[in-house]
Amino acid sequence: MDAFIIQGGRPLRGTVRVHGSKNASLPLMAAALLTQEAVTLRDVPDLADIRNMSKLLGSLGCKVEKDAADSDATNLHAHDWGPSLAHYDIVRTMRAGVCVLGPLLAARGQAKVSMPGGCAIGDRPVDLHIRGLKALGARVRLEGGYIIAEVPDGGTGGGAASKERGRLRGAHVFLGGPNGSTVLGTANVMSAATLAEGVTVIECAACEPEVEDLADMLNSMGAKITGAGTPRVTIEGVDRLHGTDHTVIPDRIEAGTYVIAAAITNGAVTLENFPTRDLTAFLDRLAVCGVTMEAADYAKGDAVGPAFATRGRGDTCDDDSASSGPADAAPADPRDTTPGLEPRPGRPAVRHPGRRDTARVAMQRRLCPVHVVTQPHPGFPTDLQAQLMALLTLADGNSIITEKIFPDRFLHVAELLRMGADCIRSGPTVLVSGVRDLVGAPVMASDLRASAGLVLAGLAARGTTTINRVYHLDRGYERMETTLRGLGAQIERVDVAGV
Ligand code: EPZ
Repeated sequence: MDAFIIQGGRPLRGTVRVHGSKNASLPLMAAALLTQEAVTLRDVPDLADIRNMSKLLGSLGCKVEKDAADSDATNLHAHDWGPSLAHYDIVRTMRAGVCVLGPLLAARGQAKVSMPGGCAIGDRPVDLHIRGLKALGARVRLEGGYIIAEVPDGGTGGGAASKERGRLRGAHVFLGGPNGSTVLGTANVMSAATLAEGVTVIECAACEPEVEDLADMLNSMGAKITGAGTPRVTIEGVDRLHGTDHTVIPDRIEAGTYVIAAAITNGAVTLENFPTRDLTAFLDRLAVCGVTMEAADYAKGDAVGPAFATRGRGDTCDDDSASSGPADAAPADPRDTTPGLEPRPGRPAVRHPGRRDTARVAMQRRLCPVHVVTQPHPGFPTDLQAQLMALLTLADGNSIITEKIFPDRFLHVAELLRMGADCIRSGPTVLVSGVRDLVGAPVMASDLRASAGLVLAGLAARGTTTINRVYHLDRGYERMETTLRGLGAQIERVDVAGV
């Protein structure tokens, strides 16, 4: 089994290009099941989860292959509309396998998809997915660990254009749950509703950028979706969808992880293909920590001021620890952000944050503590909680992190303690008291983002950190050790038998 060995304490310097988003790519790939025409996706990352999704789609009659002439492109072609079984053996390795449910049901009239089950970050129910599909008229039952869904009078395998095929029908669907909406549930219901008869309105839809990206791709296939990226999404059903060529949005979680890699090592890193607009809450918290962050579109030669609050060496910490993200921030002055309007005298012009910016991160001072609450988008993302915790172990004072999406997503805490961190957990909240130094130690990766947090801690720690079971990391970060080595980190992948 692979492990990383890190010699910490080296400031990272250089440039990284952010890959296409894993969590956007997975539902986009599943959406290829909605058409019998070819779909091309660009900038799909090369990750274990993507390979598993390709395997799953292959078992569902959808060929997935890299374009021989263009290494950036992945071609998907659902040529055989017969199969509708997403087997446990594949879905258990990757929970996102559940996002074939909506497309299969809408296109083929039936789907039998393994229940994904829980994982290290929590129970991960799918009741909202099922509730949404039932609202569209599907008959759904659970049997032998599988979700079996059918469109009444469906299941002919004849395709969306088939006259005999039963169709889902548009409905008013509410997708709110105890911890907010559901990202993959919204993807499932939205995808299914594209081929339904009539209009579907999803209330309390997930607002994550990955949902917006899926809607953009579906619209380019002939769907009629409005409001994606807001809590109310409207889908006017169409008879059929056609092929498309779509570029995946950059991975906001990978981007945020490398921002922290620069900050935690007191480095200076430039990030290309940086989705500034998808990271507002994250960048707001980092600004409070004292991480200098600028976004600039070098390609267009824009002269821009700092996109986010910045501090200089020697600044003191604000007493801002009660804020939980942009919801608490002062409302933006439109004159500061709207193109074409003059900035207020004395204030720098701030351009709209983009999705493919070039951003510079620099860190030259001690960190300030913050109060962070993970929330659905546009709040602070749960997928960056472990990484931020690693950073805050080195802050000057007490930080508080509350996890509102997956309240048990704290397996990294015990491992950070092994490295000298001072953290106390009480239910969904962790008090992180900053220490002067972390010290290298052997630690165990437990899930994808916890592993990333441990790598970041290892980069900052004195001495050697060995991170076992990095296969979790390979699910979501493309060749992370190569990227970090390119920035000057001393990190090796080794094969450690039996750990
Ligand atoms: C997506 O998972 C992401 N995965 C997760 O990223 C991410 O952490 C999560 O969204 C939240 O942002 C992919 O996109 C592949 P949810 P998803 O349904 O859609 C509850 C990573 O590290 N809930 O939005 O499965 C649920 O328990 C992964 O890349 C229900 O109650 O998450 C949670 O508390 C990990 N009933 C909340 O909603 C349901 O039917 C949000 O979960 C579904 C979810």
